[in-house]
Amino acid sequence: MRKLTAGLFAAAAMMTATVATAAEPIVIKFSHVVAENTPKGQMANKFRDLVAERLGGKVTVEVYPSSQLYGDNKVLEAMLLGDVQIAAPSLSKFKKYTKKVQLFDLPFLFKNMEAAEKFQQSEAGQKLLGSMKRKGIVGLGYLHNGMKQISASKPLRVPADANGLKFRIMPSDVLSAQFEAVNAVPLKKPFSEVFTLLQTKAIDGQENTWSNIYSKKFFEVQEYITASDHGLLDYLVVTSAEFWDGLPDDIRAEVKKAMDESIAFGNKIAAEKDINDRKAIEESGRSTVIDLTDAERQQWVEAMKPVWAKFEGDVGKDLLDAAIAANN
Ligand code: SIN
Repeated sequence: MRKLTAGLFAAAAMMTATVATAAEPIVIKFSHVVAENTPKGQMANKFRDLVAERLGGKVTVEVYPSSQLYGDNKVLEAMLLGDVQIAAPSLSKFKKYTKKVQLFDLPFLFKNMEAAEKFQQSEAGQKLLGSMKRKGIVGLGYLHNGMKQISASKPLRVPADANGLKFRIMPSDVLSAQFEAVNAVPLKKPFSEVFTLLQTKAIDGQENTWSNIYSKKFFEVQEYITASDHGLLDYLVVTSAEFWDGLPDDIRAEVKKAMDESIAFGNKIAAEKDINDRKAIEESGRSTVIDLTDAERQQWVEAMKPVWAKFEGDVGKDLLDAAIAANN
C-alpha cells in the first residue's frame, strides 16, 4: 500500500512537471500601423527579439505592422478587450481616454525633439503615463518619431497658401483647429487611407514626419513638402491594466526592462531617420522640399498658436507651463 501511494505521488509529481514545462507561453500581440522600416516598426521588432532572447518559452511577442491587425481607430478598444496586448498609437489618438494628452498636438509647442524629450521625462510628463489607468490603460513609455512637416499638391510658404485646401489629419480636435486657423479644411482619416487619398487627389495634403512620409511613399504623390517642424508626432506605448497587472511580478519586470531598452533603441532610430529620410526624399527628386525663411515661419506661428487658448482648459495650465518650460 505504502509502495502504491509513493508511486502515485511520483506519477503526480511527473505530471505537474510536464504541465509546467508544456505551459503555453504568454502571447503579447503588438499591433501598429506604420511600416517596419520606421522608428516604431524597429522598436516593436527589437522588443520582440529582446523578449525572445530573455523570456523565450515563457513569453512570445507577435508584431503586426502596417494596420495588418487593427488600425489606430480600433486598436485601443481591441486592447481593452484583450485581443491585443500592446499598442503604440500617436499621442494624437488618445482623446477618447484623456483630454490632457491633447497637449502634445499644440502647434509650435516644442522647439525641437530635445525639448519634447525633456518634458516627457519630467515629473509632469511621467505623471501623464498614468492618466488613463482608470480607463484601463497603462502607459509604458513615450517613443519618438519626430517633428511634423506639411506636404501638399502646391507649394506652401505662408499660411494663406493653405487657404481652402483639404488636409488629412489624425483624429484630434487640436489638429482640426490648427488647420482651421489657416482657413484650410481638416479631414480626420485613418493612416492606412492617406496614400490613396493623396494619390486620387481626394485631399490636397497632410502633415507627418519625414519617416512616415518616406516609408509610406507620400512623397511620391505630393509635389511639395514644407519643412515646417510645426508639431510633434510621438507615441505612447500602452498596454491594458488588466493584462499588465495579471502578469507575474518577475515577468512584468523583465518585459518592462525589454520595453525600456526597445524604446531607447527606437528613439535612436527616430533621430537618424529624421535626417536620412528627409535626405532620401530630396534625392528622389519626386517632391520639392521647401525651407521657410524665419519671416515665413513666423507667419505660421502667428496663425496657429492662438489654438492653444482653446485647449488650455482641457489640458490644464500647469501642464502647459511645464511643457513650455522644457524649451529652456
Ligand atoms: C503613426 O505614425 O503611427 C501614424 C501617424 C498618422 O496617423 O499619421
